[in-house]
Amino acid sequence: MHAQPGVRARPHTPVAEQAEQAAPNRRLPASTFRSRHSALSELQRDTWERLWPKLGVSVIPEPAGSSGEPLDTEAWFGRRAPLVLEIGCGNGASTLAMAQDEPDIDVIAVEIYRRGLAQLLSAIEREQVGNIRLIRGNGIDVLEQLIAPDSLTGVRVFFPDPWPKARHHKRRFLQPATVDLIADRLLPGGVLHAATDHPGYAEHIAAVGDEAGGADPRLVRVEPGTESLPISVVRPTTKYETKAQEAGNDVTELIWKRR
Ligand SMILES: C[S@@+](CC[C@H](N)C(=O)[O-])C[C@H]1O[C@@H](n2cnc3c(N)ncnc32)[C@H](O)[C@@H]1O
Repeated sequence: MHAQPGVRARPHTPVAEQAEQAAPNRRLPASTFRSRHSALSELQRDTWERLWPKLGVSVIPEPAGSSGEPLDTEAWFGRRAPLVLEIGCGNGASTLAMAQDEPDIDVIAVEIYRRGLAQLLSAIEREQVGNIRLIRGNGIDVLEQLIAPDSLTGVRVFFPDPWPKARHHKRRFLQPATVDLIADRLLPGGVLHAATDHPGYAEHIAAVGDEAGGADPRLVRVEPGTESLPISVVRPTTKYETKAQEAGNDVTELIWKRR
């Protein structure tokens, strides 16, 4: 894959250089994500060095307003297939299971947290899954700078950090501007699927999704199981979700279809 004008995407640089370039999160706006310990085990480092050049891209954003070429996903996956972006994939447990369930759909997992991506890389190799690629970067930059309008069949955002304190609500990933951007990148009929265990964030996401596009709404809410959709909305139960359930939190599933 070529470097993308407008976004420095580095699929082929050696891992040490990549780590130096991509690891300091200070290069990314301190917004929706927390800083997390991201050191890799020796085994994960070995897997990363072997697989990242082929399956991964590290993104460092250019200044706002730069225009970039969207990713050539057909070249990257080696085929033309419906494309799903999962933002904030964590360790990729949902990414892996859903990609295995839908081998005819290509999935790009976006995450800041390198160890999560490394865990997903190991699982991809262990399970021999061919329809997942990975991007290390901020989901907003990826949507803005690497994804063309009207190009995605689905966007998944599972258990985004709820930022429960009122003064932190502005850090929540699903805000009006981000949901408008997602709507713009979806194809007509494409699906936005979000899930959260935080009741306040669920209300917020519901309002933001229903209001996307303002007077000319771009997303239509879909009740799970009521109509046929171009991608599955059946998720596995992840460790994160199990913990939420054990803490007594219900999970809200929110699904929209782009008009
Ligand atoms: C609470 S975890 C949930 C992980 C996973 N989706 C799951 O269900 O287990 C939220 C994840 O979103 C990631 N994240 C937060 N903001 C992000 C952003 N702007 N771009 C990419 N990833 C982000 C965090 O690093 C974290 O791993």
